[in-house]
Amino acid sequence: MPTNVATSFRTEQSRLLYERATKLLIDGGSSPSRGPVNYGEYPIFMQRAQGSRLYDVDGNEYIDWMMGFGALPLGHADPDVTRAISEAAATGAHFATATEIEIEVAELLQKAIPNVEAVRFANTGTEAIMAVIRLARGFTGRPKILKFEGHYHGWYDDVLATSNCLPPGDPELSPDGVKIPDTLGLNRSSLDDTIVVPWNDLPALERVLQQHAGEIAAVITEGVMANMGVIPPAPGYLEAVQALARQHGILFVLDETVTGFRIALGGCQEYYKLSPDIVTFGKALGCGLPVAAFAGRMDVMRALAGGNVLHYGTHNGSRIGMHAARASLRRLMHDQGAAFRYIWDLADQFASGMHEVFRRTGTRAIIQRVGPMFQILFTEKPQIRDYREYCQYVDRKKYREFSWKLFEHGIYTSPAATLHSIVTVAHTSDDVNKTLVAMDAVLRR
Ligand SMILES: Cc1ncc(COP(=O)(O)O)c(C=O)c1O
Repeated sequence: MPTNVATSFRTEQSRLLYERATKLLIDGGSSPSRGPVNYGEYPIFMQRAQGSRLYDVDGNEYIDWMMGFGALPLGHADPDVTRAISEAAATGAHFATATEIEIEVAELLQKAIPNVEAVRFANTGTEAIMAVIRLARGFTGRPKILKFEGHYHGWYDDVLATSNCLPPGDPELSPDGVKIPDTLGLNRSSLDDTIVVPWNDLPALERVLQQHAGEIAAVITEGVMANMGVIPPAPGYLEAVQALARQHGILFVLDETVTGFRIALGGCQEYYKLSPDIVTFGKALGCGLPVAAFAGRMDVMRALAGGNVLHYGTHNGSRIGMHAARASLRRLMHDQGAAFRYIWDLADQFASGMHEVFRRTGTRAIIQRVGPMFQILFTEKPQIRDYREYCQYVDRKKYREFSWKLFEHGIYTSPAATLHSIVTVAHTSDDVNKTLVAMDAVLRR
Protein backbone atom coordinates (compact mmCIF):
# COMPACT_ATOMS: atom_id res chain seq x y z
CA MET A 1 0.00 0.00 0.00
CA PRO A 2 1.18 3.54 -0.70
CA THR A 3 2.23 5.39 2.43
CA ASN A 4 1.35 8.89 1.23
CA VAL A 5 -2.43 8.50 1.40
CA ALA A 6 -5.15 11.14 1.04
CA THR A 7 -6.70 12.29 4.32
CA SER A 8 -10.04 10.47 3.94
CA PHE A 9 -8.43 7.21 2.88
CA ARG A 10 -7.45 5.00 5.81
CA THR A 11 -6.15 1.45 5.68
CA GLU A 12 -5.30 0.92 9.34
CA GLN A 13 -7.42 -2.24 9.70
CA SER A 14 -5.72 -3.76 6.65
CA ARG A 15 -2.34 -2.99 8.16
CA LEU A 16 -3.32 -4.65 11.45
CA LEU A 17 -4.69 -7.70 9.66
CA TYR A 18 -1.52 -7.97 7.63
CA GLU A 19 0.57 -7.93 10.81
CA ARG A 20 -1.62 -10.70 12.23
CA ALA A 21 -1.62 -12.68 8.98
CA THR A 22 2.14 -12.72 8.53
CA LYS A 23 2.58 -14.51 11.86
CA LEU A 24 1.06 -17.56 10.18
CA LEU A 25 0.48 -17.00 6.47
CA ILE A 26 3.44 -16.47 4.19
CA ASP A 27 3.04 -13.17 2.32
CA GLY A 28 -0.04 -12.61 4.48
CA GLY A 29 -2.33 -14.74 2.33
CA SER A 30 -2.52 -17.67 -0.05
CA SER A 31 -0.49 -16.49 -3.05
CA PRO A 32 2.47 -14.13 -3.47
CA SER A 33 0.51 -12.17 -6.08
CA ARG A 34 -1.89 -11.04 -3.34
CA GLY A 35 0.92 -9.87 -1.06
CA PRO A 36 3.61 -7.18 -0.99
CA VAL A 37 4.97 -8.17 -4.43
CA ASN A 38 1.95 -6.46 -5.98
CA TYR A 39 0.69 -4.25 -3.16
CA GLY A 40 3.74 -2.75 -1.47
CA GLU A 41 4.02 -2.46 2.28
CA TYR A 42 0.81 -4.38 2.97
CA PRO A 43 -2.18 -5.45 0.88
CA ILE A 44 -5.71 -4.15 1.29
CA PHE A 45 -7.92 -6.72 2.98
CA MET A 46 -11.28 -6.85 1.22
CA GLN A 47 -14.37 -7.86 3.11
CA ARG A 48 -17.40 -7.99 0.84
CA ALA A 49 -18.50 -7.17 -2.67
CA GLN A 50 -21.57 -6.59 -4.80
CA GLY A 51 -21.84 -5.96 -8.53
CA SER A 52 -18.89 -3.79 -9.57
CA ARG A 53 -18.04 -2.72 -6.02
CA LEU A 54 -15.60 -4.03 -3.43
CA TYR A 55 -15.48 -2.93 0.22
CA ASP A 56 -12.42 -3.29 2.43
CA VAL A 57 -12.11 -3.84 6.17
CA ASP A 58 -11.67 -0.09 6.77
CA GLY A 59 -14.96 0.66 5.02
CA ASN A 60 -13.43 2.01 1.78
CA GLU A 61 -15.43 1.36 -1.38
CA TYR A 62 -13.74 0.55 -4.71
CA ILE A 63 -14.87 0.17 -8.30
CA ASP A 64 -13.34 -3.20 -9.06
CA TRP A 65 -11.67 -3.67 -12.45
CA MET A 66 -9.72 -6.75 -11.32
CA MET A 67 -12.79 -8.94 -10.88
CA GLY A 68 -11.09 -11.82 -9.14
CA PHE A 69 -8.26 -12.11 -11.69
CA GLY A 70 -10.96 -12.46 -14.33
CA ALA A 71 -13.00 -15.09 -12.49
CA LEU A 72 -16.18 -12.98 -12.32
CA PRO A 73 -17.70 -12.37 -15.76
CA LEU A 74 -20.99 -11.28 -14.14
CA GLY A 75 -19.40 -9.24 -11.34
CA HIS A 76 -19.66 -9.90 -7.63
CA ALA A 77 -22.47 -11.82 -5.97
CA ASP A 78 -24.63 -12.03 -9.07
CA PRO A 79 -28.14 -13.03 -7.87
CA ASP A 80 -28.55 -15.94 -10.34
CA VAL A 81 -25.17 -17.40 -9.45
CA THR A 82 -25.67 -16.85 -5.73
CA ARG A 83 -29.04 -18.63 -5.88
CA ALA A 84 -27.57 -21.54 -7.82
CA ILE A 85 -24.73 -21.91 -5.31
CA SER A 86 -27.10 -21.79 -2.31
CA GLU A 87 -29.47 -24.35 -3.79
CA ALA A 88 -26.65 -26.73 -4.64
CA ALA A 89 -25.05 -26.31 -1.22
CA ALA A 90 -28.37 -27.00 0.49
CA THR A 91 -28.81 -30.31 -1.34
CA GLY A 92 -25.34 -31.77 -0.89
CA ALA A 93 -21.87 -30.74 -2.02
CA HIS A 94 -20.34 -34.04 -3.09
CA PHE A 95 -21.79 -37.47 -3.91
CA ALA A 96 -18.67 -39.32 -5.13
CA THR A 97 -20.65 -40.28 -8.22
CA ALA A 98 -21.29 -38.85 -11.64
CA THR A 99 -24.00 -36.15 -11.65
CA GLU A 100 -26.43 -34.83 -14.23
CA ILE A 101 -25.25 -31.27 -13.74
CA GLU A 102 -21.85 -32.22 -15.27
CA ILE A 103 -23.63 -33.34 -18.43
CA GLU A 104 -25.64 -30.12 -18.52
CA VAL A 105 -22.57 -27.90 -18.18
CA ALA A 106 -20.67 -29.96 -20.77
CA GLU A 107 -23.64 -29.61 -23.16
CA LEU A 108 -23.68 -25.85 -22.60
CA LEU A 109 -19.95 -25.72 -23.33
CA GLN A 110 -20.49 -27.65 -26.54
CA LYS A 111 -23.20 -25.20 -27.56
CA ALA A 112 -21.14 -22.13 -26.67
CA ILE A 113 -17.76 -23.13 -28.03
CA PRO A 114 -16.72 -24.33 -31.47
CA ASN A 115 -14.96 -27.71 -31.80
CA VAL A 116 -15.97 -29.25 -28.47
CA GLU A 117 -16.49 -32.98 -28.98
CA ALA A 118 -15.61 -34.07 -25.43
CA VAL A 119 -15.12 -32.35 -22.07
CA ARG A 120 -13.33 -33.12 -18.81
CA PHE A 121 -13.73 -30.91 -15.72
CA ALA A 122 -10.96 -29.92 -13.32
CA ASN A 123 -10.60 -27.23 -10.66
CA THR A 124 -7.97 -24.74 -11.78
CA GLY A 125 -6.29 -23.58 -14.96
CA THR A 126 -3.03 -25.11 -13.75
CA GLU A 127 -4.62 -28.52 -13.32
CA ALA A 128 -6.24 -28.38 -16.74
CA ILE A 129 -2.90 -27.59 -18.38
CA MET A 130 -1.12 -30.35 -16.43
CA ALA A 131 -3.69 -32.87 -17.61
CA VAL A 132 -3.54 -31.66 -21.20
CA ILE A 133 0.24 -31.97 -21.32
CA ARG A 134 0.00 -35.57 -20.13
CA LEU A 135 -2.83 -36.20 -22.57
CA ALA A 136 -0.84 -34.78 -25.49
CA ARG A 137 2.18 -36.92 -24.62
CA GLY A 138 0.01 -39.99 -24.10
CA PHE A 139 -1.88 -39.49 -27.36
CA THR A 140 1.06 -38.65 -29.62
CA GLY A 141 3.78 -40.73 -27.92
CA ARG A 142 6.06 -37.70 -28.22
CA PRO A 143 7.97 -36.19 -25.29
CA LYS A 144 8.29 -32.45 -25.88
CA ILE A 145 5.98 -29.48 -25.47
CA LEU A 146 6.44 -26.04 -26.94
CA LYS A 147 5.37 -22.85 -25.16
CA PHE A 148 6.01 -19.18 -25.81
CA GLU A 149 8.06 -16.48 -24.11
CA GLY A 150 5.99 -14.45 -21.65
CA HIS A 151 3.06 -16.87 -21.57
CA TYR A 152 1.92 -18.19 -18.21
CA HIS A 153 0.06 -21.48 -18.05
CA GLY A 154 -0.07 -22.00 -14.30
CA TRP A 155 2.49 -23.16 -11.80
CA TYR A 156 3.16 -26.72 -13.04
CA ASP A 157 6.89 -27.47 -13.41
CA ASP A 158 6.87 -28.26 -17.14
CA VAL A 159 5.55 -24.81 -18.12
CA LEU A 160 7.32 -22.64 -15.55
CA ALA A 161 9.81 -21.06 -17.90
CA THR A 162 10.12 -17.50 -19.17
CA SER A 163 6.81 -16.34 -17.81
CA ASN A 164 8.44 -13.78 -15.50
CA CYS A 165 10.04 -10.67 -16.93
CA LEU A 166 13.62 -10.91 -18.11
CA PRO A 167 16.19 -10.33 -15.37
CA PRO A 168 17.79 -6.86 -15.40
CA GLY A 169 21.00 -6.39 -17.35
CA ASP A 170 21.68 -7.70 -20.78
CA PRO A 171 20.76 -11.38 -20.85
CA GLU A 172 21.80 -13.28 -23.93
CA LEU A 173 18.70 -13.77 -26.06
CA SER A 174 18.78 -16.43 -28.73
CA PRO A 175 16.52 -15.42 -31.64
CA ASP A 176 14.81 -18.83 -31.33
CA GLY A 177 13.81 -18.38 -27.70
CA VAL A 178 15.10 -18.13 -24.18
CA LYS A 179 14.29 -20.65 -21.44
CA ILE A 180 14.55 -19.15 -17.96
CA PRO A 181 13.19 -21.18 -15.01
CA ASP A 182 10.61 -19.11 -13.14
CA THR A 183 11.13 -20.65 -9.72
CA LEU A 184 13.45 -22.50 -7.41
CA GLY A 185 12.58 -26.08 -6.64
CA LEU A 186 11.74 -27.37 -10.09
CA ASN A 187 12.17 -31.06 -10.70
CA ARG A 188 15.70 -31.32 -12.15
CA SER A 189 14.60 -32.50 -15.57
CA SER A 190 11.21 -30.83 -15.79
CA LEU A 191 12.23 -28.28 -18.38
CA ASP A 192 14.35 -30.67 -20.48
CA ASP A 193 11.37 -31.41 -22.71
CA THR A 194 10.04 -27.85 -22.72
CA ILE A 195 10.85 -25.66 -25.70
CA VAL A 196 10.31 -21.90 -25.41
CA VAL A 197 9.92 -19.79 -28.54
CA PRO A 198 9.28 -16.03 -29.00
CA TRP A 199 5.58 -15.28 -29.64
CA ASN A 200 4.34 -13.34 -32.64
CA ASP A 201 7.45 -14.58 -34.49
CA LEU A 202 6.57 -17.18 -37.13
CA PRO A 203 10.06 -17.65 -38.63
CA ALA A 204 11.40 -18.59 -35.17
CA LEU A 205 8.58 -21.11 -34.70
CA GLU A 206 9.17 -22.60 -38.15
CA ARG A 207 12.89 -23.05 -37.46
CA VAL A 208 12.30 -24.68 -34.08
CA LEU A 209 9.61 -27.04 -35.41
CA GLN A 210 12.00 -28.20 -38.15
CA GLN A 211 14.75 -28.70 -35.63
CA HIS A 212 12.56 -30.90 -33.40
CA ALA A 213 10.61 -32.72 -36.11
CA GLY A 214 8.75 -35.74 -34.69
CA GLU A 215 9.52 -34.85 -31.04
CA ILE A 216 6.84 -32.33 -30.08
CA ALA A 217 3.49 -33.46 -28.66
CA ALA A 218 1.83 -30.05 -28.25
CA VAL A 219 2.20 -26.39 -29.07
CA ILE A 220 0.52 -24.50 -26.23
CA THR A 221 -0.42 -20.87 -26.61
CA GLU A 222 -2.64 -18.25 -25.05
CA GLY A 223 -4.96 -16.54 -27.50
CA VAL A 224 -3.94 -13.16 -26.14
CA MET A 225 -0.73 -12.82 -24.14
CA ALA A 226 -2.23 -11.80 -20.81
CA ASN A 227 0.77 -12.23 -18.56
CA MET A 228 2.61 -9.18 -19.87
CA GLY A 229 -0.24 -6.72 -19.69
CA VAL A 230 -2.24 -7.42 -22.83
CA ILE A 231 -0.40 -8.32 -26.02
CA PRO A 232 -2.68 -9.28 -28.92
CA PRO A 233 -1.60 -11.77 -31.58
CA ALA A 234 -0.37 -10.23 -34.84
CA PRO A 235 -3.01 -10.55 -37.59
CA GLY A 236 -3.04 -14.12 -38.89
CA TYR A 237 -0.44 -15.31 -36.37
CA LEU A 238 -2.53 -17.80 -34.40
CA GLU A 239 -4.01 -19.27 -37.57
CA ALA A 240 -0.47 -19.78 -38.87
CA VAL A 241 0.66 -21.41 -35.60
CA GLN A 242 -2.28 -23.78 -35.85
CA ALA A 243 -1.46 -24.63 -39.47
CA LEU A 244 2.22 -25.23 -38.66
CA ALA A 245 1.33 -27.47 -35.73
CA ARG A 246 -0.98 -29.53 -37.96
CA GLN A 247 1.68 -29.79 -40.64
CA HIS A 248 4.06 -31.32 -38.08
CA GLY A 249 1.50 -33.70 -36.51
CA ILE A 250 1.54 -31.66 -33.28
CA LEU A 251 -1.55 -30.99 -31.16
CA PHE A 252 -2.53 -27.34 -31.13
CA VAL A 253 -3.54 -26.43 -27.56
CA LEU A 254 -5.23 -23.11 -26.88
CA ASP A 255 -5.12 -21.97 -23.27
CA GLU A 256 -8.28 -19.92 -22.76
CA THR A 257 -7.99 -19.73 -18.98
CA VAL A 258 -7.97 -15.95 -19.32
CA THR A 259 -9.81 -15.35 -22.57
CA GLY A 260 -12.59 -17.94 -22.23
CA PHE A 261 -16.09 -16.45 -21.70
CA ARG A 262 -14.41 -13.07 -21.77
CA ILE A 263 -13.65 -11.75 -25.24
CA ALA A 264 -16.47 -13.76 -26.83
CA LEU A 265 -18.74 -16.57 -25.68
CA GLY A 266 -16.52 -18.96 -27.63
CA GLY A 267 -13.33 -17.16 -26.53
CA CYS A 268 -10.39 -16.72 -28.89
CA GLN A 269 -11.50 -19.78 -30.84
CA GLU A 270 -14.56 -17.89 -31.95
CA TYR A 271 -12.97 -14.46 -32.21
CA TYR A 272 -9.90 -15.52 -34.22
CA LYS A 273 -11.70 -18.40 -35.99
CA LEU A 274 -9.42 -21.14 -34.70
CA SER A 275 -9.98 -24.86 -34.36
CA PRO A 276 -7.59 -26.06 -31.67
CA ASP A 277 -7.29 -29.76 -30.94
CA ILE A 278 -7.66 -29.09 -27.23
CA VAL A 279 -8.73 -25.97 -25.37
CA THR A 280 -8.46 -25.24 -21.64
CA PHE A 281 -10.71 -23.09 -19.46
CA GLY A 282 -10.56 -21.84 -15.87
CA LYS A 283 -11.21 -18.51 -14.19
CA ALA A 284 -14.50 -17.19 -15.68
CA LEU A 285 -16.02 -20.66 -16.13
CA GLY A 286 -16.92 -21.04 -12.45
CA CYS A 287 -18.00 -17.42 -12.01
CA GLY A 288 -16.05 -17.14 -8.76
CA LEU A 289 -15.84 -20.83 -7.87
CA PRO A 290 -12.87 -23.04 -8.73
CA VAL A 291 -14.00 -24.71 -11.95
CA ALA A 292 -11.80 -25.53 -14.92
CA ALA A 293 -12.16 -27.72 -17.97
CA PHE A 294 -10.34 -29.02 -20.98
CA ALA A 295 -12.17 -30.00 -24.11
CA GLY A 296 -11.71 -30.76 -27.77
CA ARG A 297 -11.28 -33.60 -30.25
CA MET A 298 -13.01 -36.82 -29.28
CA ASP A 299 -10.21 -39.08 -30.54
CA VAL A 300 -7.67 -37.20 -28.40
CA MET A 301 -9.86 -36.89 -25.31
CA ARG A 302 -10.74 -40.60 -25.49
CA ALA A 303 -7.18 -41.38 -24.42
CA LEU A 304 -8.34 -40.41 -20.91
CA ALA A 305 -10.86 -43.27 -20.85
CA GLY A 306 -10.49 -45.67 -17.94
CA GLY A 307 -7.46 -43.72 -16.76
CA ASN A 308 -5.22 -44.80 -19.65
CA VAL A 309 -3.95 -41.25 -19.55
CA LEU A 310 -4.55 -40.58 -15.90
CA HIS A 311 -6.47 -37.59 -14.68
CA TYR A 312 -8.00 -37.82 -11.20
CA GLY A 313 -9.32 -35.22 -8.78
CA THR A 314 -11.59 -35.45 -5.73
CA HIS A 315 -13.19 -32.13 -6.58
CA ASN A 316 -13.35 -32.43 -10.38
CA GLY A 317 -16.76 -31.28 -11.57
CA SER A 318 -17.64 -30.14 -8.05
CA ARG A 319 -21.40 -29.99 -7.68
CA ILE A 320 -21.55 -26.44 -6.32
CA GLY A 321 -19.08 -25.20 -8.95
CA MET A 322 -21.08 -26.86 -11.73
CA HIS A 323 -24.25 -25.12 -10.59
CA ALA A 324 -22.45 -21.77 -10.58
CA ALA A 325 -21.07 -22.48 -14.06
CA ARG A 326 -24.51 -23.41 -15.42
CA ALA A 327 -26.10 -20.24 -14.05
CA SER A 328 -23.30 -18.09 -15.43
CA LEU A 329 -23.19 -19.75 -18.85
CA ARG A 330 -26.96 -19.39 -19.25
CA ARG A 331 -26.66 -15.67 -18.58
CA LEU A 332 -23.72 -15.23 -20.95
CA MET A 333 -25.51 -17.17 -23.67
CA HIS A 334 -28.75 -15.23 -23.29
CA ASP A 335 -29.90 -12.97 -26.13
CA GLN A 336 -27.31 -13.98 -28.73
CA GLY A 337 -24.26 -12.56 -27.07
CA ALA A 338 -25.80 -9.33 -25.71
CA ALA A 339 -23.43 -9.55 -22.73
CA PHE A 340 -20.41 -9.48 -25.04
CA ARG A 341 -21.73 -6.59 -27.12
CA TYR A 342 -22.25 -4.68 -23.87
CA ILE A 343 -18.73 -5.24 -22.50
CA TRP A 344 -17.05 -4.47 -25.83
CA ASP A 345 -19.01 -1.19 -26.12
CA LEU A 346 -18.28 -0.17 -22.55
CA ALA A 347 -14.60 -1.01 -22.99
CA ASP A 348 -14.52 1.13 -26.18
CA GLN A 349 -15.94 4.01 -24.19
CA PHE A 350 -13.42 3.43 -21.39
CA ALA A 351 -10.47 3.26 -23.79
CA SER A 352 -11.39 6.47 -25.63
CA GLY A 353 -11.85 8.19 -22.26
CA MET A 354 -8.41 7.03 -21.13
CA HIS A 355 -6.82 8.29 -24.35
CA GLU A 356 -8.42 11.66 -23.70
CA VAL A 357 -7.10 11.67 -20.11
CA PHE A 358 -3.58 10.87 -21.35
CA ARG A 359 -3.83 13.70 -23.88
CA ARG A 360 -5.11 16.22 -21.32
CA THR A 361 -2.51 15.32 -18.71
CA GLY A 362 0.40 14.95 -21.16
CA THR A 363 0.90 11.33 -20.08
CA ARG A 364 3.11 9.08 -22.19
CA ALA A 365 1.18 5.84 -22.03
CA ILE A 366 -0.61 3.45 -24.33
CA ILE A 367 -3.58 1.18 -23.84
CA GLN A 368 -3.31 -2.37 -25.11
CA ARG A 369 -6.54 -4.27 -25.25
CA VAL A 370 -8.63 -6.93 -26.85
CA GLY A 371 -12.26 -6.07 -26.16
CA PRO A 372 -12.87 -5.98 -22.42
CA MET A 373 -9.30 -6.97 -21.42
CA PHE A 374 -7.02 -3.96 -21.19
CA GLN A 375 -3.81 -2.68 -19.68
CA ILE A 376 -2.24 0.76 -19.49
CA LEU A 377 1.44 0.61 -20.35
CA PHE A 378 3.76 3.51 -19.54
CA THR A 379 6.13 3.40 -22.47
CA GLU A 380 7.57 5.59 -25.23
CA LYS A 381 6.70 2.89 -27.80
CA PRO A 382 3.51 3.16 -29.87
CA GLN A 383 2.87 -0.57 -29.35
CA ILE A 384 4.31 -3.50 -27.39
CA ARG A 385 4.34 -6.60 -29.58
CA ASP A 386 6.13 -9.25 -27.57
CA TYR A 387 7.72 -10.32 -24.31
CA ARG A 388 11.11 -8.85 -25.08
CA GLU A 389 9.70 -5.43 -25.91
CA TYR A 390 7.51 -5.58 -22.83
CA CYS A 391 10.41 -6.36 -20.49
CA GLN A 392 12.63 -3.72 -22.08
CA TYR A 393 10.32 -0.78 -22.73
CA VAL A 394 7.49 -0.82 -20.19
CA ASP A 395 7.88 1.21 -16.99
CA ARG A 396 6.37 -1.20 -14.50
CA LYS A 397 7.32 0.87 -11.47
CA LYS A 398 5.44 3.88 -12.77
CA TYR A 399 2.34 1.76 -13.39
CA ARG A 400 2.50 0.40 -9.89
CA GLU A 401 2.63 3.90 -8.38
CA PHE A 402 -0.28 4.91 -10.61
CA SER A 403 -2.47 1.97 -9.64
CA TRP A 404 -1.66 2.32 -5.95
CA LYS A 405 -2.65 5.99 -6.07
CA LEU A 406 -5.93 4.99 -7.70
CA PHE A 407 -6.81 2.95 -4.61
CA GLU A 408 -6.96 6.22 -2.69
CA HIS A 409 -9.65 7.38 -5.12
CA GLY A 410 -11.70 4.22 -4.73
CA ILE A 411 -10.51 2.58 -7.93
CA TYR A 412 -9.13 -0.94 -7.95
CA THR A 413 -7.38 -1.62 -11.24
CA SER A 414 -4.77 -4.30 -11.72
CA PRO A 415 -2.01 -3.48 -9.20
CA ALA A 416 0.77 -4.67 -11.52
CA ALA A 417 1.50 -3.84 -15.15
CA THR A 418 2.02 -7.52 -15.92
CA LEU A 419 -1.62 -8.23 -15.05
CA HIS A 420 -4.60 -6.55 -16.70
CA SER A 421 -7.98 -5.07 -15.94
CA ILE A 422 -11.38 -6.27 -17.09
CA VAL A 423 -14.73 -4.81 -18.05
CA THR A 424 -17.67 -7.02 -17.05
CA VAL A 425 -21.42 -6.87 -17.38
CA ALA A 426 -21.57 -5.58 -13.81
CA HIS A 427 -19.79 -2.35 -14.81
CA THR A 428 -21.64 0.76 -15.96
CA SER A 429 -20.89 4.02 -17.77
CA ASP A 430 -20.96 5.66 -14.37
CA ASP A 431 -18.14 3.35 -13.19
CA VAL A 432 -16.16 4.29 -16.29
CA ASN A 433 -16.70 8.02 -15.77
CA LYS A 434 -15.76 7.92 -12.08
CA THR A 435 -12.63 5.95 -12.94
CA LEU A 436 -11.63 8.45 -15.62
CA VAL A 437 -12.01 11.35 -13.16
CA ALA A 438 -9.76 9.49 -10.69
CA MET A 439 -7.17 8.68 -13.38
CA ASP A 440 -7.11 12.32 -14.42
CA ALA A 441 -6.54 13.44 -10.82
CA VAL A 442 -3.75 10.90 -10.22
CA LEU A 443 -1.95 11.66 -13.47
CA ARG A 444 -2.10 15.41 -12.82
CA ARG A 445 -0.48 14.88 -9.45
C1 LIG B 1 -3.31 -18.31 -19.41
C2 LIG B 1 -3.35 -18.96 -18.05
N1 LIG B 1 -3.31 -20.29 -17.98
C3 LIG B 1 -3.36 -20.92 -16.78
C4 LIG B 1 -3.43 -20.21 -15.61
C5 LIG B 1 -3.48 -20.92 -14.30
O1 LIG B 1 -4.77 -20.87 -13.77
P1 LIG B 1 -5.01 -21.09 -12.21
O2 LIG B 1 -4.50 -19.87 -11.52
O3 LIG B 1 -6.49 -21.25 -12.10
O4 LIG B 1 -4.28 -22.32 -11.82
C6 LIG B 1 -3.47 -18.81 -15.64
C7 LIG B 1 -3.58 -18.03 -14.40
O5 LIG B 1 -3.51 -16.83 -14.36
C8 LIG B 1 -3.41 -18.17 -16.90
O6 LIG B 1 -3.41 -16.84 -16.98
